[in-house]
Amino acid sequence: MYIQLISIHGLVRGDQIEMGRNSDTGGQVRYVVDLARTLAKFENVTQVDLFTRQIRDKRLSPDYAEPIEELAPNCRIVRLPCGGGRYYRKERLWPYLDDYADAMIAFTRREGRVPAFVHGHYADAGYVGMEVASAFAVPFVFTGHSLGRDKKAYLVEQGWTAEGMEKEYAIEHRIAVEERCLACADLVVTSTRHERETQYARYDNGSLPRFEIIPPGTSLERFFPYYDYELGSDRIDPHFKQARMRMQAELDRFHLSSDKPLILALCRPDKRKNIGAIVQAYGEDRELQHIANLAIFAGIRKTITDMPDSERSVLTDILLMMDQYDLYGRMAVPKRLDSELEVPELYRLAASRRGVFVNTAFVEPFGLTYIESSAVGLPFVGTENGGPQDIVANCDSGILVDVNDIQQIAAAMKKILTDRDTWEKFSNNGINRVREHYTWEQHCETYLDATDSVVKAAPKSVFTLQDKADAPGRRLADVGAILITDIDNTLLGDEEALGRLLEFMRSHRSEIAFGVASGRYLDKVVEVMNDHHVGPLDVVISSVGTEIYYGPDLAFDKGWASHLRSKWKRDKVAEALDDLEFITLQKDDETQQEFKISYDLDDTLMPHDEAMPIIYDRLSKTGVPHTLIFSHDVYIDILPQRASKGKAVRYLSGKWNVPIERIVTAGDSGNDIDMLKGKTAGIVVSNYSSELEPLKSSPSSRIYFAKEACAAGILDGLRHYGFAPSQQEQPA
Ligand code: GLC
Ligand code: MG
Repeated sequence: MYIQLISIHGLVRGDQIEMGRNSDTGGQVRYVVDLARTLAKFENVTQVDLFTRQIRDKRLSPDYAEPIEELAPNCRIVRLPCGGGRYYRKERLWPYLDDYADAMIAFTRREGRVPAFVHGHYADAGYVGMEVASAFAVPFVFTGHSLGRDKKAYLVEQGWTAEGMEKEYAIEHRIAVEERCLACADLVVTSTRHERETQYARYDNGSLPRFEIIPPGTSLERFFPYYDYELGSDRIDPHFKQARMRMQAELDRFHLSSDKPLILALCRPDKRKNIGAIVQAYGEDRELQHIANLAIFAGIRKTITDMPDSERSVLTDILLMMDQYDLYGRMAVPKRLDSELEVPELYRLAASRRGVFVNTAFVEPFGLTYIESSAVGLPFVGTENGGPQDIVANCDSGILVDVNDIQQIAAAMKKILTDRDTWEKFSNNGINRVREHYTWEQHCETYLDATDSVVKAAPKSVFTLQDKADAPGRRLADVGAILITDIDNTLLGDEEALGRLLEFMRSHRSEIAFGVASGRYLDKVVEVMNDHHVGPLDVVISSVGTEIYYGPDLAFDKGWASHLRSKWKRDKVAEALDDLEFITLQKDDETQQEFKISYDLDDTLMPHDEAMPIIYDRLSKTGVPHTLIFSHDVYIDILPQRASKGKAVRYLSGKWNVPIERIVTAGDSGNDIDMLKGKTAGIVVSNYSSELEPLKSSPSSRIYFAKEACAAGILDGLRHYGFAPSQQEQPA
């Protein structure tokens, strides 16, 4: 198996992961790197590639600019451009994902190896994963890591407005993409039952895909037992030892006596982590203060003043409580924790001093920190809400409490700190049982079983990277560049300019092949092409990208049809929209096809900006993966998820080995959007309709807004991309 993992945002590299360097570099990065490395060790896995974003930013390490990083034998990080070189936070990456998907497909083709499946991590990579999986007709695996509906609920609670959430987090877009991921996924991998039941369950399509609950592994090379130091520290990597010294020195700045046991808390400065409860439990209990010191690591910072509002208020509260309970000399609030070596060393430091780890978050969906502290032998006090239930059941290495009950928290800490037998039992259990239940090897075994059965169940791929020499359509491969244009209002509309364009195409037949992509049915395409003497055509994409025909004999591409059949349930889609009064099925029989259902919208009954969300919502609830397209303020087309003009164009690129940059696309309306976006050489004619307006501000895609209308605009675009000589060079 060749496996493709995608995790786009954050700072991804194999060593010295900069955990917490920014809000997008945390658990997920660690997770995908460990997953990739461990998968590659398995015998039936031939290669694992982890795709991420290439970042060329002076403020960051040049590691993130390297196109390829070898992680392990047969295992690489592949970095492809996504937007410019600068670092962007994840919410800013959406406009660049079409480019990214095209780049990833092109990369895969160049390497000449089709993946067994594609696994997207988080909504952004999910979006890319769907495109890539569909391009190669292989299964799509999805892991949300965290989900938008949950985040939205939380933000609403915090008083955010819809506008604010959109601007800051593109939250509705994220949720819509997650719905699509769930509708398309052949498998969803999630860490806990709790995640599935409380987070995925909030989605219309949340119960649709097959789920596999697999806890992530712990990296045991980092989280080795605390007593390894006691057994002889010469075996321990000096980097760890240095980290330990740094941590000890850091704590010494705060604590008056450094030999007391340590109560350790470690989390992001997030209200939901409920850090105040720990300070309160400690502050109100003199005995506890006598027994142990407290250390709270919450957020790397230069100064609290410069932190974002929400984090600043969490930390300010902690400092005020420290003052209120007068915990000077007993409580540490260090500012830094800057490498992945220091976290395990902190746990080990605390364990060596017979301490306890505390995390009283209101909910912990998974609870990685409890597992990590258990792995080094540090017992914990944790929240009873969420994943920790599973951890205690598996490992019996800590005590769960009601985090709203301060006395209970204090009592649990005291029990562990004072009862030697309990401490020893939890500590040993943690070290031993984490190694039974939470290793990446264990994770990957289950993972490979699940993905293997998904791969076997998938219909055999209809894709070959090369096609026979005499196949119809072969000319596309030989010519190596194609113009694909929409018909109505793009190719047609100006007879004089059309004449000039046809003249150009005929005289450049050996350099650029000629095709059309239309919303019309084949017969109608042929009819209108004959009327206007358009030809010869090398390829016809008809019915909004659901059918492909080649050459003068209009040879039908059966491969494309069988590709579209996957998961398509036409009746279910039609039924879902049946009773909507503001749309009517298009009358002409030929507008309704196996892979195309088309309606007209009556704008007088319902304006389109209200109608479309209703339709969107109805379709989302069917659970049928689909593409919804709105054009010219009237036409509504619903197609299989794998179909559209843009997808058909990319299929041609793959099948005939024509680089996507060498395909010129031209259009004027909604159903042309996805063939204009991404890495195609897109041309929008000047008489375009309103749906294309947003493309103008799209910061990424190669899209040229022609200065002229219809066929004259196409010629203008061909010149712009260098496929036709510029006007000055043209012979008079
Ligand atoms: C063409 C088709 C129609 C479709 C429209 C937009 O007019 O005949 O069925 O809805 O294009 O794609
Ligand atoms: Mg058109």
